[in-house]
Amino acid sequence: MIEVKNLYKSFDGEMVLKDISATFESGIINQIIGKSGSGKTVLMKSIIGLFPIDSGQILYQERNLPNMNRNELKLLHQEVGMLFQGAALFDSMTVIENVMFPLEMFSKKSKQEMIERARFCLERVNLQPDTVSPLFPSEISGGMQKRVAIARAIALNPKYLFCDEPNSGLDPVTALVIDRLIEEITQEYNITTIINTHDMNSIMEIGAHIIFIEKGTKAWEGSKEEIFTANNEALEDFVFASNLYKKIRKTQQKTKNN
Ligand SMILES: Nc1ncnc2c1ncn2[C@@H]1O[C@H](COP(=O)(O)OP(=O)(O)OP(=O)(O)O)[C@@H](O)[C@H]1O
Ligand SMILES: [Mg+2]
Repeated sequence: MIEVKNLYKSFDGEMVLKDISATFESGIINQIIGKSGSGKTVLMKSIIGLFPIDSGQILYQERNLPNMNRNELKLLHQEVGMLFQGAALFDSMTVIENVMFPLEMFSKKSKQEMIERARFCLERVNLQPDTVSPLFPSEISGGMQKRVAIARAIALNPKYLFCDEPNSGLDPVTALVIDRLIEEITQEYNITTIINTHDMNSIMEIGAHIIFIEKGTKAWEGSKEEIFTANNEALEDFVFASNLYKKIRKTQQKTKNN
């Protein structure tokens, strides 16, 4: 579990996050949603400790991240898996080298053990290790690149998994497959997973606990089941921005009135 309390973050006097408090439980999908520029990436990077915050607490169990020294932060980062916006694989490394990278950085495993672990992670994301291992990222599809990125993110058996727009740039079907894969892994290993997204399909599919950010503040919190009945203007604007969801709402209102 991760608890954020009264988090404030500014850049050069410009306030980007204001008084954010939220609890992220393990074993379920926590989503941070909101429009482009609302502050999702800054919030995620602040929680991970990649951005220093102005004030507030970020509690990993009882450990408060802003109080951690370099060594404690390094230890915490060994428990963290990350999927950055875009697949962000190393282009000059093969698939297996990409997945082995965090193991080489942080584990004391032998070469053979690292290869075995990397192959296991590739299998876990439904890739065939023999086939994909020697390929370079440019030689596989966008969906496969995301799978490799997930395999790399879980290589160290993380307690915490952060995914920033994990299915951006994918077609809706592949996007769903990636969402479900992250959900499955989260449940299977009881990981505390936080996903940034503005994809309504993703939200409706896997959003167990949703934090809605509007201009740097938490404007709403709830589950995917509650999102359609929330009484929040900014959230409605966000949810019903697409014609598809406008039509769904109309149909819902008609059924209610009949
Ligand atoms: N390193 C930085 N220095 C200064 N300002 C920044 C920095 N990173 C982000 N910001 C500002 O913080 C605000 C929130 O940006 P952020 O990247 O968190 O948005 P987002 O919700 O992730 O958007 P998107 O959906 O497009 O990824 C923006 O106004 C942005 O310009
Ligand atoms: Mg972002």
